[in-house]
Amino acid sequence: MMTDDLSTTIAKFISQVLKKDLNDVLRAIEIPTHHHQGDRALPCFRWSKEAKKAPKILAEVFKKEIEKSELPEDVDRVEALSGYLNFYAKTDVLTRKTLNQILSKPTSYGFVDSKAPPLAIIEFSSPNIAKPFSIGHLRSTNIGACLSRIFQARGWKVVRINHLGDWGTQFGKLMSAYRRWGKAEDLQEYPMDALYKLYVKFHEQEVSDPTLIDEAREWFSKLEKGDSDAKELWEWFREMTMKELSRLYGRLGVEFDHFWGESYYVHLLPELVSDLEAQGIAKESERALIVDLEPYNLHTCLIQKKDESSLYMTRDLAAAIYREEKFSFDQMLYVVGTPQKLHFQQLFKLLDLMGKPWHKKCEHIMFGHMAFGDEAMSTRKGNIVFLKDVIDKSVEMARQTVEEKNPELENKDMVAEQVGLGAI
Ligand code: ARG
Repeated sequence: MMTDDLSTTIAKFISQVLKKDLNDVLRAIEIPTHHHQGDRALPCFRWSKEAKKAPKILAEVFKKEIEKSELPEDVDRVEALSGYLNFYAKTDVLTRKTLNQILSKPTSYGFVDSKAPPLAIIEFSSPNIAKPFSIGHLRSTNIGACLSRIFQARGWKVVRINHLGDWGTQFGKLMSAYRRWGKAEDLQEYPMDALYKLYVKFHEQEVSDPTLIDEAREWFSKLEKGDSDAKELWEWFREMTMKELSRLYGRLGVEFDHFWGESYYVHLLPELVSDLEAQGIAKESERALIVDLEPYNLHTCLIQKKDESSLYMTRDLAAAIYREEKFSFDQMLYVVGTPQKLHFQQLFKLLDLMGKPWHKKCEHIMFGHMAFGDEAMSTRKGNIVFLKDVIDKSVEMARQTVEEKNPELENKDMVAEQVGLGAI
């Protein structure tokens, strides 16, 4: 329901002049997609049956009726177009009104009623454990942290979730690589570096040794089945990466309410998968489970592999349902790069198919792709830029400038850290 000032003014006016129920009108009012269609629009389909007139005709009738009265002071004109009444605002009047409202409440304009604050889940950063925190995750971290603060400043309750990539076939690869080439000392000394090197080595060797990929699959399958050897390695990788991550977040001044990674939802998967089957949404195909989303132009998506291991998508589905049950949120934002656009379109469609009307409250907040020269960053190929190096470099450059311009400055290190991080 549109409840902003302009919509309310227009709705009250329509309801009075056309003698329609105010709530019905409020529910119907929309913001047109294209600017030339006006600032607010009323679709007339809703009243077409009772008036026994086609919407297109009815819009004309409404327009004539409306023009007998004086328009509200914020409205410049009304047009009838293809069954819609389009209202064009007087922007100068509206601007003056809005500025006056802001000036009269300089610290609380835009706040929501704090007696019943709405709740937003903001999921951001979400790097992959045991792979370095790359600069690609930095934008998600910054945008997500800003959105959280903006929502909070407006009076919303905010739950910040870090959906760590701490489950999936890449762990199988790491385990097999570690068992083949890894040394505990390397991992103890420089954990993220050592794990990263193992990951890259795996992908280099995989080209000439196709048995590697089966071995990795085997490891991941062991992990999913709760094998203690696999579990122990996984926990060790996770713990070491978490330490490094906490340091980075501390330096950036970013906080989370929950570090619920993908692994957090794994115990919910068997029931989810059988629900999807029972509802007739997922079907078997070559011993795997898939959902055909072709009718919605969203391709096909895989829910379970033939060895019964789960997927990124399955874990995302479980996470969304879990969060809705726990928080019954008013909005859930996923701050993730544009390359995952299709993934989120599929996820929201699956929720819709499962009969979850709250899929409409979920939104993918996209941001652009990171590339250097012609090449996109790829962990596998080893051409990734580490966030830690970016931060160090930026701080070092700030430090040099301080040295040149203001060598007498006290707290040089602190200033360099602040300026360097600020620049990022
Ligand atoms: N870990 C993922 C990546 O680095 C991002 C996770 C995004 N969030 C989600 N719910 N799928 O690509």
